[in-house]
Amino acid sequence: MKTAVVTGGAGFLGSHLTDRLLKEGFAVIGVDNFITGNPANVEHLKDNKNYSFIEQDVTKYIDIPGDINFVFHFASPASPIDYLELPIQTLKVGSLGTHNAPGLAKAKGAGFLIASTSECYGDPLVHPQTEEYWGNVNPIGPRGVYDEAKRFAEAMTMAYHRYHKVDTKIVRIFNTYGPRMRLKDGRVVPAFVGQALRNEPITIFGEGTQTRSFCYCSDLIDGIYKLSQSDFHEPVNIGNPVELTIKEFAERIIRITGSSSKLTYLPLPTDDPKQRRPDITRAWQRLGWKPVIDLEKGLTETIAWFKPRV
Ligand SMILES: NC(=O)c1ccc[n+]([C@@H]2O[C@H](COP(=O)([O-])OP(=O)(O)OC[C@H]3O[C@@H](n4cnc5c(N)ncnc54)[C@H](O)[C@@H]3O)[C@@H](O)[C@H]2O)c1
Repeated sequence: MKTAVVTGGAGFLGSHLTDRLLKEGFAVIGVDNFITGNPANVEHLKDNKNYSFIEQDVTKYIDIPGDINFVFHFASPASPIDYLELPIQTLKVGSLGTHNAPGLAKAKGAGFLIASTSECYGDPLVHPQTEEYWGNVNPIGPRGVYDEAKRFAEAMTMAYHRYHKVDTKIVRIFNTYGPRMRLKDGRVVPAFVGQALRNEPITIFGEGTQTRSFCYCSDLIDGIYKLSQSDFHEPVNIGNPVELTIKEFAERIIRITGSSSKLTYLPLPTDDPKQRRPDITRAWQRLGWKPVIDLEKGLTETIAWFKPRV
């Protein structure tokens, strides 16, 4: 049996990845310090003999006995609210944590995959974003703590690949949503769904003309799993290219929830990207991956999960 380590394993995506790896026949060791994660996300695994958990901050040296075949490095505050509240921890986990995690992979002769982000493209001047685009990031803006940490993390990953010959992969994740997100993490989907389910006004920043694309979590995890099994080392965008304005998105959620919420408008935050859409040609050509869950289905599942929790 192969063993995978998932850092950030008690988070939204780390826990879904863990479920998939267990289904694929891996033993999984989750590592998390719960800074933004939730023990409830992995509660269902407590009696699974192929699952174990280590509570640890990955910015500290990681020592795990036994064979390890793959390290998935997902630890990082990920929502704007989280990384604006935790700027130093975000920079540390992107830098020190992304020294320790590939270091563990190197010591064990394991594969390594880093969860990077579309934020590496910043406020993009190229649309849609291909992996060749180097990005337009403000290093000293408030979001710089996250964007630059992830850009550094990618550079570190490539250094481990080129210098230490570690079998590394980089996934650039675009906005992903689904069950196990936190209602108050400030990301668009839980924020709008929570407001709609409470029949409160839906808060739109700016005029709502900025676009986003949203990928359902099972699609994302499928792309990540395929990438982990590939021999491709350059970054790969994984996301859903169907683009909607934020206003259209809010209206869609109001319709699906049957809510009486109205839209309300607030000023746009600093460095909020105006457009974001992945070019997923590379994922299709290299991995044979594309998303299969449409927004209607994904939102219906997500809303059903949030409903008893609002
Ligand atoms: N969800 C998205 O749309 C999205 C988009 C782009 C990139 N990502 C990346 O995917 C990864 C997971 O994001 P998520 O949405 O699941 O967020 P999340 O906050 O739910 O999960 C992150 C997990 O990392 C843990 N963590 C943070 N710092 C740590 C540290 N120093 N040591 C140990 N554990 C630590 C947190 O406690 C949490 O459980 C992140 O690296 C994020 O940057 C997510």
